[in-house]
Amino acid sequence: MRKRLFVAVLAMVAMLIAGLAYADHHVGRKLDKSDMEMMKNGAMKNMDKYMGSPEGMKTLMPAMEKAQKGSVENGKKLFNDPKLGTNGQSCASCHPGGGTTGGTVKTPMASELTGKPYELPVPTLVGAAATFPKFKVPNDRVVTVQEMANNCIMMFMAAKGLPLDSQESKDLAAYLYSLSEGVPLEPGKVPEMMMKMMGGM
Ligand code: HEC
Repeated sequence: MRKRLFVAVLAMVAMLIAGLAYADHHVGRKLDKSDMEMMKNGAMKNMDKYMGSPEGMKTLMPAMEKAQKGSVENGKKLFNDPKLGTNGQSCASCHPGGGTTGGTVKTPMASELTGKPYELPVPTLVGAAATFPKFKVPNDRVVTVQEMANNCIMMFMAAKGLPLDSQESKDLAAYLYSLSEGVPLEPGKVPEMMMKMMGGM
């Protein structure tokens, strides 16, 4: 009797450990009731709006085009807006028209090793979005275009980056991607001027 109880307890402990290990490795989480409610009031309502009737279907293409164009236009406005920063600079100050001044800029802080700031060449953003996601030194990891825009906002515009789930951050990315239209995707590609700086590796 005792032995059976011991085996049962042992089995339960083993299952618990296995369960915890599984939960640890499993990234996806189960939907709950509020997720289902959100889907019903969000995704399903929108599907009904555009796909539920022939009249709705007629509004789909114009709505898509308007949203897409609006996002790029808003992104372009943000790109030219010094209000994204606190030092009077906009993205366009260094990347005029999405290109480059051709000059270099200094990091706002000095290196702890040399006591001097780093001087970085300003790359053009034409074709740049097509090279993301990619590794960036200040982050020491692979980042998206949205995160890269935040790098520039923090380092060069003296302001907090945009929340990544904000429409502003996505619109700015939409504009940056519009500067890569027709450019083949090459995630991880380093701009030529940066290559030169790194000794043409
Ligand atoms: C004071 C000048 C300056 C301002 C202002 C600035 N940038 Fe930059 N930007 C740079 C420099 C210098 C780099 C190169 C740094 C790097 O790649 O780590 C860069 C790199 C980038 C890159 C990566 C290009 C590539 O090919 O890897 C993107 C994208 C970018 N900037 C977007 C923006 C956006 C969007 C804004 C406005 C929110 C902005 N930048 C504001 C100077 C600036």
